[in-house]
Amino acid sequence: MTTEKVDFTGVQSTMLVTLFLRAADARDAEPVLGDHFAVEAVNRIDYDWKKIDKPGSLRGRFGVALRAKLLDDWTAGFLRRHPDATVLHLACGLDSRAFRLELPAGVRWFDVDLPDVIELRRKLYDEDDRYRMIATSVTDATWLDGVPTDKPALIVAEGLLMYLEEAEVRGLLRRLTDRFRTGELIFDGAAPWMARTTQLLSKYLARWYRYPPFRTAVRDGSDIERWNPSLHYRDDIATMARYEQIPDPKARRTYRLGSRIAWYRNSIRVFRAEF
Ligand SMILES: C[S@@+](CC[C@H](N)C(=O)[O-])C[C@H]1O[C@@H](n2cnc3c(N)ncnc32)[C@H](O)[C@@H]1O
Repeated sequence: MTTEKVDFTGVQSTMLVTLFLRAADARDAEPVLGDHFAVEAVNRIDYDWKKIDKPGSLRGRFGVALRAKLLDDWTAGFLRRHPDATVLHLACGLDSRAFRLELPAGVRWFDVDLPDVIELRRKLYDEDDRYRMIATSVTDATWLDGVPTDKPALIVAEGLLMYLEEAEVRGLLRRLTDRFRTGELIFDGAAPWMARTTQLLSKYLARWYRYPPFRTAVRDGSDIERWNPSLHYRDDIATMARYEQIPDPKARRTYRLGSRIAWYRNSIRVFRAEF
């Protein structure tokens, strides 16, 4: 087995955290998501995992797995209704959603991320007729030129919009709704207090907190319609509110308690909008 040396910094490094936490969940006796692709990817990447492999970080695996599971469920639901859909999986990192889910034969899937992430991804996963990777910033105006737009679109953005400026979010969403006639956007959004906290951490505790701060937050579904009036907010679920899916009793109790405090429960929510 070949290993790939990686030393990302900046926003690209955040996908190593989510990858490692999905792998940690999969190694649990009773996982929430059970993403064995993440375990294989971690084993093949030569990175100083000790930076992430700490009790404080590992506790976050439940939230990461719940979020991924919810987006998997919503993706599977959309593909059942639209078995000929085009999926744009933005900021895919090394996520294996395209392989975790059973895709109907008519689905075309595009995994999109920054060039150095896709370069690594290409060493770990293969493309075929129905599955492609696109190396670009989603803020680039031209990458959509290569994507067929004749089918309903599912746009999945997990761990992305918070790292963009609001003007970049608006520009991206406008290009998407201009191109595709119909579709759905599903994404996770951070509460404004979370964004402020990451901004303070990166300003005052930069030596300890090495990740980029969140730049765009979501107060509620009306923000989505304000960003882009073609999008119609349909639903949102706080990942923490799905605590019943955590098999580990101690973690389930902690998440259940957290979910009783509205502002805390809503720190990360998954949103769904149609166009
Ligand atoms: C928190 S990680 C999430 C990765 C993946 N969705 C997951 O859950 O493991 C954030 C990802 O956003 C990607 N990203 C950030 N800004 C981007 C941009 N402008 N264009 C494309 N990808 C971007 C990063 O490279 C990284 O892979």
